[in-house]
Amino acid sequence: MFHVRGNPAKQKGGINMEIAVRTRCPYTIRIQRGILKQAGEACRERFPKGNRVAVISDSHVFPLYGESLLSSLKASGFSPVSFCFHAGEASKTLSTVEKILLFLAEEKLTRTDFLIALGGGVTGDMAGFAAACYLRGIPFVQIPTSLLAQVDSSVGGKTGVDLPQGKNLVGAFHQPALVLIDPDTLDTLPPAFFADGMGEVIKYGCIRSPELFSRLETGNIREQMEDVIRACVEIKRDIVERDELDTGERMLLNFGHTLGHALEKLHGFSALSHGAAVGIGMVKIAQAGEAAGITEPGTAKRIAALLQRYSLPIDDPADLEDLLDATASDKKSAGSQIRPVLLRRIGESFFTPMPREEFRRFCAGIKPSSLPDTSAPTCKLP
Ligand SMILES: NC(=O)c1ccc[n+]([C@@H]2O[C@H](COP(=O)([O-])OP(=O)(O)OC[C@H]3O[C@@H](n4cnc5c(N)ncnc54)[C@H](O)[C@@H]3O)[C@@H](O)[C@H]2O)c1
Ligand SMILES: [Zn+2]
Repeated sequence: MFHVRGNPAKQKGGINMEIAVRTRCPYTIRIQRGILKQAGEACRERFPKGNRVAVISDSHVFPLYGESLLSSLKASGFSPVSFCFHAGEASKTLSTVEKILLFLAEEKLTRTDFLIALGGGVTGDMAGFAAACYLRGIPFVQIPTSLLAQVDSSVGGKTGVDLPQGKNLVGAFHQPALVLIDPDTLDTLPPAFFADGMGEVIKYGCIRSPELFSRLETGNIREQMEDVIRACVEIKRDIVERDELDTGERMLLNFGHTLGHALEKLHGFSALSHGAAVGIGMVKIAQAGEAAGITEPGTAKRIAALLQRYSLPIDDPADLEDLLDATASDKKSAGSQIRPVLLRRIGESFFTPMPREEFRRFCAGIKPSSLPDTSAPTCKLP
């Protein structure tokens, strides 16, 4: 069993896990194989009175799980309507959100009704944003079906869409009313997307849990999916509870992302998946940390071996200077400062703002003067 700080998860019979998230609007995350088929009951518990619900899904996921969800909702006395958009990041736009909002208005959903996001991170982000905007905010339920959405995007309340100028540039914080995670849905997830989600799973081990990291190194992940998802969700929950609006500790979740986003950009946001780019970013920053004497020697090698175990790349031929230039437009960097997340060792992370030029030197393996030594506090707030 993984040891994670914070609220203990309630586990019934080893298969039904409930995790409480104490944000401004508290909610429950339920992880259970087959829970999709019982989603109606779970929603009825959460919404004892309403009967209207709009299911938002994409063209891959709805044909697989839409009917099952709608039947379960009807069996619990709901009158569901559904909206399906073309699957893929290219749909995560204001234009699709507008279509969703028009659909909700045509269906005359009111503030006592709610939305369900059935799908991956694209669906969750967009349905959540539509829920945040419609009638100035109605509740929504996350039913994440990709690994990335189950371990990351369905928790924490970040919703939004892309603009032509960059990803996730428009959005709102809107916490879900309930999250239902059915690990069985991963059986139909294409292997490339499973690997993509593993990039984030490995990240959680790196920043907070040596136990999770070791389990990933040795165990058969497919047999332990519920435990692995739970470990990730609990780490994210603990961080989000302490920093709901992403002004401090939540930045630790960006480990590997500074260089990862730059790599995605250099690859035109299509040739390299997000998880793959983050994986390479984690290796590069760990290598730089080791060279600067901040990160325990051998850390980058362990991360690289784990990434390879889960079919993710560990390097990219991109020129370091091009990569550093590409970090300039990273929305996570603040002006001339950059805030890389660094490791002391597997499971211990911290971040510290540094001038862009110092970051350049750091990436070249030189310990910059402003960096804390390894005895610095775990999370240094800006
Ligand atoms: N809100 C957040 O905190 C947060 C965090 C991380 C990422 N994100 C966002 O999440 C998005 C990426 O998420 P994603 O990788 O899930 O993308 P996605 O929603 O596009 O899903 C990936 C692909 O898998 C398909 N799919 C999903 N579940 C499936 C299943 N069970 N069976 C078969 N096919 C399935 C989808 O149709 C899609 O083709 C990005 O837009 C990113 O910005 C948000
Ligand atoms: Zn990510």
